[in-house]
Amino acid sequence: MNYSNRTYALGGELEIHRLGYGAMRLTGQPGNYGPYEDWDGGIALLRRGAELGIDFFDSAWSYGPETADRIVGEALGDRPVVLATKGGVDKPAPGRIVVDGSRDTLHRQIDGALKNFRRDQIDLFQLHRVDPATPIETSIEALAEAKADGRVRHIGLSNVTREELDRALSIAPIVSVQNRFNMAEQGEADLVAYTAELGIAFIPYGPLGANPMQRGARLEPTEAIAWLLSRSPNVVVIPGTTSIAHLEENVSAWSKVHEIGEEIGEEIGEEIGEEIGEKIGNKIAV
Ligand SMILES: NC(=O)c1ccc[n+]([C@@H]2O[C@H](COP(=O)([O-])OP(=O)(O)OC[C@H]3O[C@@H](n4cnc5c(N)ncnc54)[C@H](OP(=O)(O)O)[C@@H]3O)[C@@H](O)[C@H]2O)c1
Repeated sequence: MNYSNRTYALGGELEIHRLGYGAMRLTGQPGNYGPYEDWDGGIALLRRGAELGIDFFDSAWSYGPETADRIVGEALGDRPVVLATKGGVDKPAPGRIVVDGSRDTLHRQIDGALKNFRRDQIDLFQLHRVDPATPIETSIEALAEAKADGRVRHIGLSNVTREELDRALSIAPIVSVQNRFNMAEQGEADLVAYTAELGIAFIPYGPLGANPMQRGARLEPTEAIAWLLSRSPNVVVIPGTTSIAHLEENVSAWSKVHEIGEEIGEEIGEEIGEEIGEKIGNKIAV
């Protein structure tokens, strides 16, 4: 695989740009609860993202709940972009999370997400968290049923360990893993490498080091995004923002990939890292 690639093929067939957008912030605040206050502004922001070439938008049932999926569906449901959501977590009140990965709940949330996205198939449906009361195998079987009947195109995971990924893979093909990872929080480095090896996308959440419940990036945004893009060719970055100016700035991160790719090459000092530096240095620098 070429490290300078700007795109990644989910499941080997659904090509997306590796710099996407995360819609969690397009919800009521505080607590990512309720509909986004500036609904029309949110629609404009999502469409501006698509205009800038973003073609991968990540959402979840629990954002709102449902309202992030709804704003994404209203803005982009009829556009040629890849829409991802997650299920298995609900939010009945601000700050209250209910994890439920049971078969019935997942099927109900898939049907709801189809309506909210205004589509007849969900490109990527991710299990948001593993439910301690439901074996991951049972949750994945439910998603595999939805894949078999065409409601879901690809299955992904979020907040999982390598062992849970292996268990899920014993039931159905998994195309992505979404865990927290950024320049300052590199605890998932082994999983980034493992997913790369398996041909699975790694979607680092909190790419700018943000607290999920508070506004504001903790890392310099374009540097943090370029670092992730340079880190491994299976990384798909989904920074979240409510500002069109920030969105435009974040998309410009590609221009920093050259320099940072070389630094990573030196820093991780392995063959793979050197290859990142060399290839990105040669091909992406513009
Ligand atoms: N799977 C999970 O469990 C999970 C958990 C958390 C998040 N996620 C996903 O990951 C996505 C990203 O995570 P995140 O939103 O928590 O964190 P993030 O992308 O690290 O940071 C978002 C924060 O940074 C600010 N920001 C963005 N671009 C900026 C810029 N150019 N300059 C200054 N500030 C900027 C935003 O504020 P402004 O609005 O002011 O720009 C926002 O508050 C979410 O949208 C969601 O899709 C998944």
